[in-house]
Amino acid sequence: MASTTARTALTVCFLWVATALPATAADIARGAELYRKCVSCHTLEANGRNRAGPRLHGLFGRVAGSVGDYRYSDALKGSGIIWTEQTLDAYLKDSEAFVPGTKMYGGLSLDQDREDLIAYLRAAAGRP
Ligand code: HEC
Repeated sequence: MASTTARTALTVCFLWVATALPATAADIARGAELYRKCVSCHTLEANGRNRAGPRLHGLFGRVAGSVGDYRYSDALKGSGIIWTEQTLDAYLKDSEAFVPGTKMYGGLSLDQDREDLIAYLRAAAGRP
């Protein structure tokens, strides 16, 4: 009984510390490092080539599957997704779960990795 109480108190204390910590700021430089996982298939420049995946220039606010000279899966093309921090986060976390049938296999499981990468993309992908 006493140990259960102690454990509960510890858990409560831990949760309090976890929520009291300020959210870690996204680290763009770290995001740039993480982007190296993407360069084999994607470019970021305005007239960047499509590789195995479409160019990502102007990604934010873009409708998924809308780079005209790239052949998407029907799944992504018909998804109706608009790329924002939130939708990108879900796609990068588990692309197959978010868009069943997508051609991109992706899974960045760490929240901080996705946050940093998305901050980098925000800075580097430019406007549509
Ligand atoms: C092995 C190749 C490959 C890698 C590595 C890869 N992708 Fe992709 N990506 C693709 C393909 C293929 C598609 C098109 C998916 C479809 O049509 O279903 C795609 C699509 C996308 C889209 C949707 C673009 C649009 O126009 O709707 C985003 C965003 C994206 N990838 C981001 C990333 C990021 C960020 C990374 C790095 C973490 C990454 N990808 C790594 C192949 C890749």
